[in-house]
Amino acid sequence: MEFTKRILITGGAGFIGSHLVRLFVNKYPNYLIVNFDKLTYAGNLENLSDVDQKSNYRFFKGDICSPEDIQKAFEEYEISDVIHLAAESHVDRSISGPMEFVKTNVIGTVNLLERARGAWSEGEHVFHHVSTDEVYGSLGETGLFEESTAYDPRSPYSASKASSDHFVNAYFHTYGLPVKLSNCSNNYGSHHFPEKLIPLMIHNIQNNQPLPVYGKGENIRDWLWVVDHARAIDTIFHEGRLGESYNVGGLNEWTNIELVRFLCRLMDEKLGREKGESEKLITFVKDRAGHDMRYAIDASKIEKELGWKPSVTFEEGLSKTVDWYLNNQGWLEKVTSGAYQEYYQKMYS
Ligand code: NAD
Ligand code: TYD
Repeated sequence: MEFTKRILITGGAGFIGSHLVRLFVNKYPNYLIVNFDKLTYAGNLENLSDVDQKSNYRFFKGDICSPEDIQKAFEEYEISDVIHLAAESHVDRSISGPMEFVKTNVIGTVNLLERARGAWSEGEHVFHHVSTDEVYGSLGETGLFEESTAYDPRSPYSASKASSDHFVNAYFHTYGLPVKLSNCSNNYGSHHFPEKLIPLMIHNIQNNQPLPVYGKGENIRDWLWVVDHARAIDTIFHEGRLGESYNVGGLNEWTNIELVRFLCRLMDEKLGREKGESEKLITFVKDRAGHDMRYAIDASKIEKELGWKPSVTFEEGLSKTVDWYLNNQGWLEKVTSGAYQEYYQKMYS
């Protein structure tokens, strides 16, 4: 079969990447989808067991820090487009070890940009860089992040993502590389590694372990269902303007403590526990260093220009998410064995 596009999706074995790969492989049988992933602790090929036999899917085990790996994948599959998600993605890990974030998120991104610049001299191409709203810093009680909000990253993670965004924009202005960017709020959904708030709490509620809420739990995040983020990337990749960035979010702000309480109530119901039982597990712990107070996205550009909006309410999305974890205990058990135990001890003991 002659494929009309040959897309390299980096980080396709991770949380958001696997949802994007699934969407593209199923929706676009005429595209070749190459999942380029190093399979770090956060990458798991089982996330794709329902699509990995499809004829338009390939897996390439590679490291974006290696220009040779990238060149090999570009040549082997004649890559026409890139959707770049591979990254170190956890703020707490970036605080204990920032260098890995500089290597993967900054140098890895520049390696990819360099290869795309070298390979794409003619024809139509897109380099879509997937980034975060955390590059904008921290909001007070009011206001929303707009595309024009000045970058003000505060954590090593957000600083590395901000730097990668700047390189992507620099390649557009300097070399005319056909880039697009998206900056999304916090995602939740199935296949989410339980180092992040929602899957960690689901795992601990299920196992009757303490629920570690940082500080007073007053920090606010804007939550979006991961499938809606994948839909947004699809829309921007196909219809967004070159050189533009699009904010993606759910208009769905929650303080951490309210969110954890809501999850407790939902899981009490689903697990047949008495009302209020899981909430007893809530434990306030030492706050994260430099903890950003509030993130909230103004998504009116993508809504007005490209017609995207979230497809589910938070209540629906969270209920589906909890169901997935309860029905896929094996997945959680596997990813929380071994190195996860060491990580958990180090962070929470
Ligand atoms: P994740 O940590 O779940 O997955 C990252 C993936 O990248 C893993 O499969 C990992 O194996 C792979 N990877 C890491 N280093 C690599 C390297 N050197 N070479 C090749 N592959 C490598 O991350 P996620 O939550 O799915 O996030 C994906 C992207 O979306 C990231 O760029 C992140 O900054 C961005 N983002 C995430 C969120 C969120 O809420 N999770 C929100 C907005 C933006
Ligand atoms: P996280 O899922 O790590 O995402 P991010 O830091 O990128 O927003 O954390 C979401 C919020 O939850 C953040 O304010 C930190 C807080 N948090 C806790 O209170 N306890 C935890 O154990 C974790 C992992 C996060």
